[in-house]
Amino acid sequence: MEKLYKLSTFARKEIIAQNYEGLDDIDLLLSNQFIEDEVGEALIENFIGYFQLPMGFVTGMPIDGKLVNTVLAVEESSVIAALNHSSKLFRNSGTIETIIHPTILIGQIAYNKDELKELDLLNHKQEILIFLKKEFSSYFERGGSIVDIESIETDNFITYHIMVDPLEAMGANLITQICERSAAFLESAHNFPRPLMCILSNSSPQASVTVKAKLMCEEILGKRIAQASALSSEQPMRASTHNKGIINAIDPLLIVSGNDWRANNALLHSYACKDGRYGPLSKWSYKDGILYGEMSIPLQVGVVGGATKVHPFAKLALNLMEVKSKDDLQKIIAVSGLLQNFSALRALVSEGIIAGHMKMHLDNISGELTKDPSTHRKLVNLLQERLKRNKKVSLSDGKELLQNLLSKA
Ligand code: MEV
Repeated sequence: MEKLYKLSTFARKEIIAQNYEGLDDIDLLLSNQFIEDEVGEALIENFIGYFQLPMGFVTGMPIDGKLVNTVLAVEESSVIAALNHSSKLFRNSGTIETIIHPTILIGQIAYNKDELKELDLLNHKQEILIFLKKEFSSYFERGGSIVDIESIETDNFITYHIMVDPLEAMGANLITQICERSAAFLESAHNFPRPLMCILSNSSPQASVTVKAKLMCEEILGKRIAQASALSSEQPMRASTHNKGIINAIDPLLIVSGNDWRANNALLHSYACKDGRYGPLSKWSYKDGILYGEMSIPLQVGVVGGATKVHPFAKLALNLMEVKSKDDLQKIIAVSGLLQNFSALRALVSEGIIAGHMKMHLDNISGELTKDPSTHRKLVNLLQERLKRNKKVSLSDGKELLQNLLSKA
């Protein structure tokens, strides 16, 4: 499945379907049907239809010694091409290893200090834990745990942080319910005031996944990528764009897997500020012919609950990626983010990103005018020559060149 980009959409889908024969819902790829209204209706209010994003396939991403196929939903033209290209490079001349850390979600119960007076939730920690074990018995039976409860005091507020292991779910509803019920228990059992709010925090002081990548790399390129990394550490203005390049792969995976991309964007940007100012999520260095990349990030994702199981394309995407657990998904997301970042930096410090975009632009023009692979190749070459001469090309250039080409044939 390596040269999928050379095939027509139909042929590409057929090949993927053949390779995944027997997989649940695989024929959705071929039938090109819209999803039933019931799915959208179950997810949101005032449902009026589906907004469709292109879904792209990435073959053979090397993760921990295995090759993983991934699926992304994205409209930005370079993302899939860059991931396929960087996957191939690292597959052939590098390694990518991941480490999973415990995912702990923090739920906040926030009180106004004046209203709380001398009351302190921490004096009732054991009681709350016993209460929660009864209230959320099925969660605890599945192996759930309240890892700890601590308090944070600022000028006007005290927030209690309930730390929860969300298991295979993203956990937003669970943890918010845990906070709400704990606060209600304290109100009725110990005359606590009504809290200002109870909600999951989309911020985490700890990363949930680390990726370490190595690539054999020629010196000039390796050193320039390392400098690009250093620039993003020195300048928050650049760090933001650097991180956008990482999120270019992360968001499409969150979307395609039915996960909450808004939560994770908040999480990632907040984590990027963990050292007191906005910084890059990844770091690259170069030594003796090897380029080293590393990234540790928190993620709030799930493979059960929410849209992951309701949306048929999310289910299909998770199956295509052979995601069996939250850890599998976290690894794919983090590795894709780092590879996407690598591709962006490589392009930026060498030919610049417009060259890559231009190649896609020429492919698109030619693809619109001919379906014949040999004519397509010749037309792209002619468009390239014209681009060099005129510095721009359009669909009408393509039409004119195609006419010339066909008249000579
Ligand atoms: C564009 O979508 C992403 C980049 O700007 C990322 C970067 O600058 O590192 C190319």
